[in-house]
Amino acid sequence: MKKTASFLLALMFVFAAVTPAAAAGGAKVPPADGTTARALRFREDGSFKILQLTDLHKSDGDAYEDVNNCLLNELAKTQDADLVVITGDIAMSGTRDEIIANIDEIMTPFANASIPVAVVFGNHDSESGLISREELMAIYNTHPNSISVDEGALLPGCGTYTIPILSSSGDRLAFNLWMIDSREYDEQGRYGAVTPEQIAWYVHKSEALQAQNDGKIVPSLMFQHIPVPEIYDALLEVNRFTPYAVKRIYTDDRYYVVNPDNINAGRLAEYPCPPYENNGQFDAVAARGDVLAMFFGHDHSNTFNITYRGVDLVATPKTNFEGYGVDRGARLITLNEADTSAYETHLVRFTSLYDLNDLNPASLISSGIRLNSPEFKTIVAVNFFHLLFRLQYFFATTLVEAVTGMKFDY
Ligand SMILES: [Fe+2]
Repeated sequence: MKKTASFLLALMFVFAAVTPAAAAGGAKVPPADGTTARALRFREDGSFKILQLTDLHKSDGDAYEDVNNCLLNELAKTQDADLVVITGDIAMSGTRDEIIANIDEIMTPFANASIPVAVVFGNHDSESGLISREELMAIYNTHPNSISVDEGALLPGCGTYTIPILSSSGDRLAFNLWMIDSREYDEQGRYGAVTPEQIAWYVHKSEALQAQNDGKIVPSLMFQHIPVPEIYDALLEVNRFTPYAVKRIYTDDRYYVVNPDNINAGRLAEYPCPPYENNGQFDAVAARGDVLAMFFGHDHSNTFNITYRGVDLVATPKTNFEGYGVDRGARLITLNEADTSAYETHLVRFTSLYDLNDLNPASLISSGIRLNSPEFKTIVAVNFFHLLFRLQYFFATTLVEAVTGMKFDY
């Protein structure tokens, strides 16, 4: 029975995948080239919503496993997303069977809500050596709602591809998403860098899309796990005694805060961890001018959105209660077909999914939630951690901002 249901679901997704491109039939929809996911489409009202999740670090034996599963369910049910993008460090610990089960727990809530999911990998996903990125991608792709691409031998790594978003009428490419495997580590054990081959592929494909689009660049967003090294050029270098200055990775004595002149939202809560090597990815992106914003995970507490050389560099915090982190949640990104030169984004904090009122006996009874259920545990956990966050925020941000006259949260 289960098999029949998933076969039918798979058939629906294949049909949905083929329909817009086939209907278009023209050269304006990108052809399959081994690095292109199935095309998605703006809604009839012109909107398209992307829900970014990151750094789930899902493993068996997590203290908050049931809570984290509830949060994924709630995000799937409430955010009305057209696409979920997961930017790395997803399900990476345990045996192969445990990893398969964990991926199933991540994918299923979104499959149940008929939401496609696209992943890129982080430095940890295949770090254990028990399972390769290619094997992981094959497991994600057993799920009918997975649209991730293994580009095979075309590029180094696994999971560098594009997701075309067609116009609501389905007859042209209106927007593009770049999904980049930001690799693992270099030979010295420092964070990995996007390779020259991947950058050349981006430039070539970006130019090809522009050529197909009557010479106009195709506006896009880029998603990857590890931020670009230029993030430190976008911050403000200060002396080490500046409150909340973070020490630059790979250096001994350089400190940074956000720059009030270029920050749009959020805060710098920990030092960013880009690669040591810089193969020119950001320079290529800035030169092409087709990427409105680059979205990263990796640094679990950062939430900033900073404009640097015409590109927004956006950090998304980890999307569960496992491991370290200050702000936690997902990120919703909304596109509008009528103006693809801009986008809107905000954090989806877990307290927007539940609030204290959910804990009063009347609403518990009316919602049918039992006291020994994961749902109840989730409401308690969300409220408890939010209370800690509010206390921490008051002492570490509100008071310090008042005393120093500086701003740390935008
Ligand atoms: Fe990471």
